Amino acid sequence: MTINNYSKSMTKLLISSAIALAIVGCNDEQTPTKPQAQVAEQVSENITIWPKLDIAVKKDDVLEAEVAKILAGMTLEQKVAQMIQPEIRDISVADMRKYGFGSYLNGGGAFPDNNKHATPADWIKLAEDMYQASIDDSLDGSTIPAIWGTDAVHGHNNVIGATLFPHNIGLGATNNPDLIEQIAAITAKEVMVTGIDWVFAPTVAVVRDDRWGRTYEGYSEDPEIVKSYSAAIVKGLQGSADKDFLGDERVISTVKHFLGDGGTEGGDDQGNNLTTEQQLFDIHAQGYVGGLSAGSQSVMASFNSWHGVKNHGNKYLLTDVLKDQMGFDGFVVGDWNGHGQIKGCSNESCPQSINAGLDIFMVPTDAWKPLYENTIAQVKSGEIAQTRIDDAVSRILRVKLRAGIFDKPSPEKRTLSGKTELIGAKAHRDVAQQAVRESLVLLKNNENLLPLSPHQNILITGDGADNIGKQSGGWTITWQGTGNNNDDFPGGSSIYDGIKEKLANGEGAIELSVDGSYSQKPDVAIVVFGEEPYAEGNGDLDNLEYQRGDKKDLALLKSLQAQGIKVVSVFISGRPMWVNAELNASDAFVAAWLPGSEGRAVSDVLFTKDNGDIDYDFTGKLSFSWPASSVQTSVNRHDNNYQPLFPYGYGLTYASTDLLANDLAEVSSDKGVALTAKKIFDRSVQKPWHVNLTSGELTSPVISNVQTLGAVSFKTLDKVVQEDARSLIFDGSALASITLGSNFPEDLRAYAEGDSALMVNVRVEKQATDKVYLAMKCEGSCRAALDISKVLASLPENQWQAISVDLACFKEAGADFSKIMSPFKLSTGGKLSLSFADVAIVPDSGKQASISCSTTL
Ligand code: BGC
Ligand code: BGC
Repeated sequence: MTINNYSKSMTKLLISSAIALAIVGCNDEQTPTKPQAQVAEQVSENITIWPKLDIAVKKDDVLEAEVAKILAGMTLEQKVAQMIQPEIRDISVADMRKYGFGSYLNGGGAFPDNNKHATPADWIKLAEDMYQASIDDSLDGSTIPAIWGTDAVHGHNNVIGATLFPHNIGLGATNNPDLIEQIAAITAKEVMVTGIDWVFAPTVAVVRDDRWGRTYEGYSEDPEIVKSYSAAIVKGLQGSADKDFLGDERVISTVKHFLGDGGTEGGDDQGNNLTTEQQLFDIHAQGYVGGLSAGSQSVMASFNSWHGVKNHGNKYLLTDVLKDQMGFDGFVVGDWNGHGQIKGCSNESCPQSINAGLDIFMVPTDAWKPLYENTIAQVKSGEIAQTRIDDAVSRILRVKLRAGIFDKPSPEKRTLSGKTELIGAKAHRDVAQQAVRESLVLLKNNENLLPLSPHQNILITGDGADNIGKQSGGWTITWQGTGNNNDDFPGGSSIYDGIKEKLANGEGAIELSVDGSYSQKPDVAIVVFGEEPYAEGNGDLDNLEYQRGDKKDLALLKSLQAQGIKVVSVFISGRPMWVNAELNASDAFVAAWLPGSEGRAVSDVLFTKDNGDIDYDFTGKLSFSWPASSVQTSVNRHDNNYQPLFPYGYGLTYASTDLLANDLAEVSSDKGVALTAKKIFDRSVQKPWHVNLTSGELTSPVISNVQTLGAVSFKTLDKVVQEDARSLIFDGSALASITLGSNFPEDLRAYAEGDSALMVNVRVEKQATDKVYLAMKCEGSCRAALDISKVLASLPENQWQAISVDLACFKEAGADFSKIMSPFKLSTGGKLSLSFADVAIVPDSGKQASISCSTTL
């Protein structure tokens, strides 16, 4: 087909899909707060933008003949099984024996036997059992060895005791490709010790809006570092094409998420990217240019859309651009049920994705079985062409042959297998410590307060001081990185640990206290504070203000300064944030990002040697521009009118004499900005709110995915994407409720004045046997409860429905919008089964709310 014809048909495809999506966007099933899919006219496809890459790993005739030979001996069922990637929580070894899947994965926080403390031996045993089952020919499955993929995104981060490197945002600040290659090679080794073949890294997102919850998984806002790093990482993981390629100490790498994940509107996770095709290449594709040229064997499709079309179903991007034009001959793996988000697809059925060019379905949950059966049926019916299946399976076989999977011994007999001394080895931790030192960016150092002397009296405080979980961020043992304590990091160290060691030999003293209290007045306080761990959409923010609505760390900094104590702030975060007030209240300020398990290395840079000589100077430079206001969420190098607080590339050294004023503007500049929907629950509860259950006299915060308190049971549920809804069962034995509340009052007057409505998606599974109330609570004993029993009773069971209530109804019932403590409380004394998702306060929609004030009385 000529380029012209091609372009025309693509434009047509994009427009029709976008219109269809826009229509779907109107029905109740959609999140009320998400922007609707945009029209696609402005995309004019131009395949010539995309270069033919010079890929280091070339096709080999002998290997291709082998691929063809294996393929020729396979049944359709065996072929489709190669394309199905289930998760270890959802399949057994017996399933592997029966079906012969091509691959399987463990998601973030999934361990052998569901045991967080699984040992390397447990990991190897599972790898060995799965391998043996995959080559077992006693049943119908093939004898092609299965491969195991894992998210080793900052070291082998699902395994207790592994070396955890700084998250990518910190590595970007080091701007050191050689170091990145070493880190990748170490990660490959630690992964191979546990018998695993394949990692879902590197993430090469170029992050353009720092509200995105995955900002820290990106190296930079600019393609330059991303491109050079991705080549280095791929070499470190896989070995070089001409040397040790996928040898005994190497794993298969995945460049992800293809394409444009870092450029969605509003930094929305899994959102819509509206850049032009030229920008898509110039900005977002550079990591693929680097990583694929270096020979990465797999690419993960992204959850995001490009001009309203989800990438998992975008044939232009997956097939025409990536495979045909750029020349990628490895395989494309989907993301976590990403195919289920394609229009017309479900997790259980999606010929569209395969037809668009997806080669492997990542299909966690029990959807794998229907998906396998449906895909077979769709090939039989001709909905999916046999040639497409053969192409996908050839790609999988090609990669397996290149990786020597057929010839290598079984997982437990491989070279590095079981060498547990390599997990968290000293030599590995030394490299991680170098990375930590090089990642620190010095933003303020008035009167050259730093470096400190080990002979001073130091107070170390803040909730990040002695907290390895917090300093490691998301994707750390658990998916969200929450629920870990220091004992979960054997061999690791906190920032406090390093400083204590530094001071052990000198005449100085150190005192640790989280709240800033001390027994002996210190010369200097080091305050370690910052963001709590999060992953993916759970980290999406509305704006970049740090501790919005709850300035407790600022209060700590101020109180120390008021006592005449010099303050060094060490800021832990997955992104640059608006911290003007915290900068003003600090004499020195270090952006430490998410350093990982080797917190001790921070002290190497903060302190001189005993004799006063500088040990390590700061070398880290910002790979992300630092915002000058809370709403400067998308500020990037080369922007017109570029006015960040600190520009890309900024970072002081000990020789710098820069003095940062102590009077940076502290008033958040969101004044004058149009009101946007206030998300209260968007996949997870949004800051500053948290979830509590109450039953009778008992109240308890929700801390796990499944929890029961007296009369109410709570659990997470998948509505559109994983764990984006919550389900509740009230058993009627006591008055019980769920509350999304904050510790501090929120001023929502602008919303009350802006004709807003409280919106929520609900699904009633079993109607209530007693009255149900929807309430808002304000400071003190102020509250406004609306009886929504009739409204719920009128809803059809088991269907998601958006309901909305005018804020005026809550006002009439007594809510004080200047001090809202909880914008959403649902309670009943009866029996009721109900799920909810997407709670938001949406401006300009009060008058059209689905529930009028009178129905609720
Ligand atoms: C993430 C991927 C990850 C996969 C497997 C997805 O939700 O987007 O980055 O590799 O889960 O855990
Ligand atoms: C799972 C994680 C997984 C993640 C991918 C979550 O629901 O619990 O294991 O990595 O989804 O997005």
